Amino acid sequence: MKLQIAVLAGDGIGPEVTNEAIKVLKSIATEFNHTFIFKSADVGAIAIDNHGDPLPESTLDLCKESDAVLFGAIGHPKYDNDPSAKVRPEQGLLKLRKSLGLYANIRPVKAYNSLLSKSPLKRDNIKDTDISIYRELTGGIYFGEKTLSEDGNHASDLCSYSKEEIERIAHLAFKAAQSRKNKVTLVDKANVLETSRLWRRVVTELAKEHYPDVELDFLFIDNAAMQMILNPKQFDVLLTENMFGDIISDEASVIGGSIGLLASASVGDKYSMFEPIHGSYPQATGKGIANPLASILSAAMLLDHFELYEEAELIREGVEKSLKLNITTPDLNARFNNITTQKVGDFIEDFIAHPKDSNLNFTNIHLGQSTII
Ligand code: IPM
Ligand code: MG
Repeated sequence: MKLQIAVLAGDGIGPEVTNEAIKVLKSIATEFNHTFIFKSADVGAIAIDNHGDPLPESTLDLCKESDAVLFGAIGHPKYDNDPSAKVRPEQGLLKLRKSLGLYANIRPVKAYNSLLSKSPLKRDNIKDTDISIYRELTGGIYFGEKTLSEDGNHASDLCSYSKEEIERIAHLAFKAAQSRKNKVTLVDKANVLETSRLWRRVVTELAKEHYPDVELDFLFIDNAAMQMILNPKQFDVLLTENMFGDIISDEASVIGGSIGLLASASVGDKYSMFEPIHGSYPQATGKGIANPLASILSAAMLLDHFELYEEAELIREGVEKSLKLNITTPDLNARFNNITTQKVGDFIEDFIAHPKDSNLNFTNIHLGQSTII
């Protein structure tokens, strides 16, 4: 298959982790005879510095003429600490999602057996957790009208949703449930918010009409946040609006042991983008300690999207192997903290080339730590 992939590495650790995902995709291309062409463009703080715009027109054009977008991370402390900043890196990401019509953000959450002890949560509670979060991505409070009074003492953000915006992501969530455990949980705040009541009504009707075989239940976001910690195994597909999805997916990352593991796919009717859910982690920039697995797993989701399932599975096997062998960055591996972002990528690249026998060689040669096996 021939694919052009727009690479928007962005800020902070974005470029480092994205490099490892590209390395892994190149290795897949070699082994499976695909042609992946990577073209880079600026987004976020770096784009403000270079072009005065967090999403330059040329970047958006590149995304539109590509088959998919591989996104790194955006954000920079100089904007976070300045509430009066007129342009912010995050605006680049939001505009990109909106311009490409990426209304569904899919965030898988999994408890890897080899990492159960890394989570602060109880092992028995999280073992076998496997959740797919469907977060609405181009509506709600993120995109509603914003106001700030002249005197600066009053501000508002409007949360609004239409039936159509709810239906299109709900269809994707129900279809996903049908190939999983056949259960959708709608997370909302229908006891308080009108938009949430609309979500409940629309989703209930749609479920009855199109997906009578799928179990549907409802949870208020506050309760869902608690259940995510108490008993995450009860969830299969979780469907929710933009801001609740943002919050609950960060919370859910605790189950996996590190936010550095959570990948995502953002899809619409025409375009698709793949990005780790973590941010730009400015303190870690350039230190080689950022976990590249979320970006590498996002690359696997990209391959899934183009129905390259075998290739995607091989990447996931490589990731699991790296976790099993402790070839992981310090967020998961305080003991052997000399394992860099790059070494993790090297391991998975090597695994793809030699899935049967890479690990021993690699561990001995590159890490000199055969004893950890
Ligand atoms: C995410 C991020 C973004 C969001 C930020 C960077 C705007 O937190 O993708 O989860 O809130 O959507
Ligand atoms: Mg977030």
